[in-house]
Amino acid sequence: MEDQRSSSHSDGSATESSPLFGRSYTYWSPVEEGVTLSWRDLSVYVLLKQKGQPYKRIINNVSGAVRAGSLVALMGSSGAGKTSLMTALAYRTADHTVVEGDVLVNGQPMGDYMRDISGFMHQVDLFIDHLTVSEHLHIMARLRLDRRTTSQERKQRVLEIMRNLSLLKCRRSKISTISGGEKKRLSFASELLTDPPLLFCDEPTTGLDSYSAQKLIAMMNLMASSGKTIVCTIHQPSSQIFKMFSQVILLASGRLAYMGATSNAAEFFESLGYRIPANYNPADFYIRTLAVLPVSEDSCKQAIKTICDHFAVSDFAKEIDVIVQYEFHMARTMQIPTLFTKSRSSTFDTVFTSSIVT
Ligand SMILES: Nc1ncnc2c1ncn2[C@@H]1O[C@H](COP(=O)(O)OP(=O)(O)OP(=O)(O)O)[C@@H](O)[C@H]1O
Ligand SMILES: [Mg+2]
Repeated sequence: MEDQRSSSHSDGSATESSPLFGRSYTYWSPVEEGVTLSWRDLSVYVLLKQKGQPYKRIINNVSGAVRAGSLVALMGSSGAGKTSLMTALAYRTADHTVVEGDVLVNGQPMGDYMRDISGFMHQVDLFIDHLTVSEHLHIMARLRLDRRTTSQERKQRVLEIMRNLSLLKCRRSKISTISGGEKKRLSFASELLTDPPLLFCDEPTTGLDSYSAQKLIAMMNLMASSGKTIVCTIHQPSSQIFKMFSQVILLASGRLAYMGATSNAAEFFESLGYRIPANYNPADFYIRTLAVLPVSEDSCKQAIKTICDHFAVSDFAKEIDVIVQYEFHMARTMQIPTLFTKSRSSTFDTVFTSSIVT
């Protein structure tokens, strides 16, 4: 038993490793050990200018955890709160937004450090249109890579990324002229430059044809299997794409309707009498079940409330709760040095030696 809990690092220092994750709690290095993201009692409010109603709650007291090496689909109907939850987890909320609750990375509160260890691909691409693909990536590399990176290393990195994301053929094209799929891949490429262990992607497949969407998610799946933690909001994934996600978080009206293994979601919904019809896309079924239809707003809201209430006391929620409690317990009891060391070793190359992008 003792053997499972202790390990040592290259500097010879003894560490306390978690029986749940096999990672250290005394040597904090998400880059080397991967990221377990946990959050507790998270609520998000937006400040309104209306008199009498100064704020609106858009995320309602959600807790959860995502282990290192997971590819997570954050789903729910439009307006459910996907972007709001993701930006809160990523410490990238907009002005006039207030976040209540805690977010930890490997048992450590993050604050603005979150920006150093994570990438965030926005729902809407933000580019300077008259730059070429290559110019854009070189500028991003200058801004984002460690100052000690030489210009040769930067060029090499940009070249590798363009090759692996099939951007070489359009590298001299102005961004205003490239296709939607190329823009998505360019946006993803910009976030991959620093090879962060944690990636947030807001609707990376929106606007892509099914083949390109599948290629992008397959690439993320490969990256997750090498230890990255990737959280993606996604609309209407095909059955094939949905299966590539190891975990799913279903949001409805800012509440958690399900969180857990993608393969267990059907069992949870079935336990409440919602059986997926034969040959029906499970992702579509969950979104439909959690949608508020204008013709039957009250009954939809009541059904959603029942599902969320049941989830809160389900075994699936308890399973997540064990991880959350463990992470927060370790945060309280272990003395983790607030040290962030950037490893120069890169998982990027390993992943892309067998990249499916051609
Ligand atoms: N600044 C704001 N002021 C008022 N309401 C807001 C603000 N930001 C978000 N909301 C509301 O909060 C809810 C959740 O928004 P959010 O963008 O998180 O939804 P979403 O699930 O990402 O939707 P979509 O799939 O359309 O991107 C929506 O009803 C939205 O209108
Ligand atoms: Mg959104």
